[in-house]
Amino acid sequence: MPTSVPFFRPKLSDAAIAEVEDTLRSGWLTTGPKVKRFEAAFAEAVGAEHSLAVNSCTAAMHLALEALDVGPGQAVLVPTMTFAATAAVVRHMGGTPILVDCEPATGNLDLADAAAKADAFERGSLPVSAERLVGIMPVHVGGHMVDMGAVRAFADQRGLWVVEDAAHAFPAAYRAEPDAAWQQAGQGTADVTCFSFYANKTITTGEGGMAVSPRDDLMERMRVMSLHGLSKDAWKRYSGGHWDYRVISPGFKYNLTDIAAAIGLHQLERAEELRLERQAVANRYAEQLGEVSQLQLPVVPADRIHSWHLYPLRLRLDQLKIDRNAFIDALTETGISTSVHWRPLHAHPAYESLGWLPEHLPAASAVWQRLVTLPLFPGMREDEVESVVAAVTELCRQHAR
Ligand SMILES: Cc1ncc(COP(=O)(O)O)c(C=O)c1O
Repeated sequence: MPTSVPFFRPKLSDAAIAEVEDTLRSGWLTTGPKVKRFEAAFAEAVGAEHSLAVNSCTAAMHLALEALDVGPGQAVLVPTMTFAATAAVVRHMGGTPILVDCEPATGNLDLADAAAKADAFERGSLPVSAERLVGIMPVHVGGHMVDMGAVRAFADQRGLWVVEDAAHAFPAAYRAEPDAAWQQAGQGTADVTCFSFYANKTITTGEGGMAVSPRDDLMERMRVMSLHGLSKDAWKRYSGGHWDYRVISPGFKYNLTDIAAAIGLHQLERAEELRLERQAVANRYAEQLGEVSQLQLPVVPADRIHSWHLYPLRLRLDQLKIDRNAFIDALTETGISTSVHWRPLHAHPAYESLGWLPEHLPAASAVWQRLVTLPLFPGMREDEVESVVAAVTELCRQHAR
């Protein structure tokens, strides 16, 4: 009987568990000293000036857009190949997402299409309209970084802000030239960069997120709005601060707890070790599946350090007698859990109903039918990797055209 393989299994150290226990016994459960330590350590790890810990990446992006004053009449370039949250926060603020197509090989936002969509927006020839284009939100799909220098240049040319959805991209880096220094997600190219510590992310706090930014004006507003719009945070309020806080603006309840930060501190310490474990699994997949002609594997150019949050295969459907859905069903029957990243936004009712059609986003419309994300997580056992390789290889052999 082949080993069944989950899509993800978190790997928490005894030190992280002890740190949680320490927090539970400390008398301070919500935002407090451990959150402050986590914020400082994370900023140092990515080379950011300012950091704000929150309870999700979605919260971080929502706060960023609020601080940037996004509102009705404003349009934002958002990749169609992303999770619901990237575009939802634009709509929460009353703004209009302009969906952008992807590069077929990486799934990342295609800057040439961003330019084409921005021009079509100016001409009024898109399904949606607004008064002004204000920003762009690149996403590093699976941990393969977008060229942030190119995004920044594009944004500066058009007077746009950049909010980087780095939910998948810690730790990850790129460099523009072989001799250039590595640039990490969050190192200051974007106005705000948002990370996710959701349960299956590269480092986790169960639920959690972090915003980093070189701009103290944005971070100050985001910090205030992350806790009800109060002039002081609860930690300061109850540990020597004054009782008479002021509500500056109707804010949100997005703060991270010390319980979560306790996990995060220890995940952060081991982030590169965990990345190397994921990298080793990705290398094994590349070695063992590289010769299977029905598969197109993820590419990693020499100018990227990949976080390996995801391992998305592309099936060569012209060489298979079954489609992607049947392929996934067959893998599920053998006990291998997979996923798809993603059904693009324009193929969801919430965006179809705004008038977005497959022909507006042809690359994403074609590639998503071919996507299968394989299990990949730190601590994945050799027999688990072998089971995935064997099941995928056998399916391709059985159904080869
Ligand atoms: C690209 C992307 N952005 C944002 C999010 C939202 O992250 P969170 O669950 O921390 O809000 C996710 C979650 O999977 C994601 O994949």
